[in-house]
Amino acid sequence: MARLDVKHLAVSYNGKNKILNDINLTIEDGELVSLLGPSGCGKTTTLRSIAGLIRSNQGQILVDGKDISRIPVYKRNFGMVFQSYALFPQLTVRENVAFGLKNQHIREPDLSSRVNEMLDIVGLLDYAARFPSQLSGGQQQRVSLARSLVTHPSLLLLDEPLSNLDAKLRVEMREMIREIQQRLKLTMLFVTHDQSECFAISDHVAVMNKGVIEQFDSSESIYHHPLTEFVAHFIGYENFFQVKKFLKNQKYLLDHNLEFTAADSSPNVISLTIRPEDIEIIEKETENSDNHNQLEGKILFSTYLGDSYRYQIDTPLGIVIAVSGTDKKYLSGQPIVLNFPSQKVLGLSK
Ligand SMILES: Nc1ncnc2c1ncn2[C@@H]1O[C@H](COP(=O)(O)OP(=O)(O)OP(=O)(O)O)[C@@H](O)[C@H]1O
Ligand SMILES: [Mg+2]
Repeated sequence: MARLDVKHLAVSYNGKNKILNDINLTIEDGELVSLLGPSGCGKTTTLRSIAGLIRSNQGQILVDGKDISRIPVYKRNFGMVFQSYALFPQLTVRENVAFGLKNQHIREPDLSSRVNEMLDIVGLLDYAARFPSQLSGGQQQRVSLARSLVTHPSLLLLDEPLSNLDAKLRVEMREMIREIQQRLKLTMLFVTHDQSECFAISDHVAVMNKGVIEQFDSSESIYHHPLTEFVAHFIGYENFFQVKKFLKNQKYLLDHNLEFTAADSSPNVISLTIRPEDIEIIEKETENSDNHNQLEGKILFSTYLGDSYRYQIDTPLGIVIAVSGTDKKYLSGQPIVLNFPSQKVLGLSK
């Protein structure tokens, strides 16, 4: 197993515009890190640079502290699951999975038992004799996963390995990947643009935007404390209030001379955000006189989510989204007051 350090990595295709800019990333031995970001932000390029399939313009890639740039790709003992499966079309499912083990000179009966075990894990034992062209996209993706896991690589690079699976299989497979990763203590870099997937599976998450990593933190920190507007948007925060001025001690001036207290205190904060479920809805009659961190509003619209209601509320700061329990339902047109607990109001920078 191995620890990976990426230091100041920069890549530009055909020497022109920079696709990656000063990427820094550490994956501790036996850890799973996700690279999360929108289409085109440079996730695949980062993965391919680490694998050695793309030449970087700048920076270092270290495995256990050693620069690997001079080690040829085939000697690195990295596993890779490509976004496009990249199976050998002329080999059966069984032969595809056995390929890496044969290269490692693993012999029978070990060979067959490891291949069978892996095919069983990904649910494809009955398909062992088929060729890739006779499989669905999701089945090919699972063969690709089995092929890369079976050799127990020191570092496994996975490029959206679950993108072609249906919702139920996706959840099962991500649990399977996490389970195998923890059991075999594999070091993994997992690319996805699905936030729930990345939180479910990772120790740390790197959120990428336009070729840079905007935030690299534990899953919990990213979820509860995004630092920039981009990260907050990308992981599903919906309420944003523009800051007019930083006052002092966590206090910010918003539009309409409203003053809000947030969890953070910084002059670099450009907007405040809060999760819909952290906003409290109070009936107008029970409103108390202290209107700090409160907004008056009117319910516009509600949707039933099964375990809660989701409301669109018209306020002086624009439409606010709030989610609250099913014990009480507010009706369209009803005037209410929203309370924003200051420890749940986060300050975001650019
Ligand atoms: N061979 C290439 N030559 C020139 N530009 C490229 C090449 N490959 C990718 N790019 C560009 O580099 C940028 C990053 O691409 P990349 O494939 O790394 O994105 P990604 O984050 O993996 O996106 P997706 O989620 O769609 O897979 C994109 O703007 C893309 O158009
Ligand atoms: Mg990609």
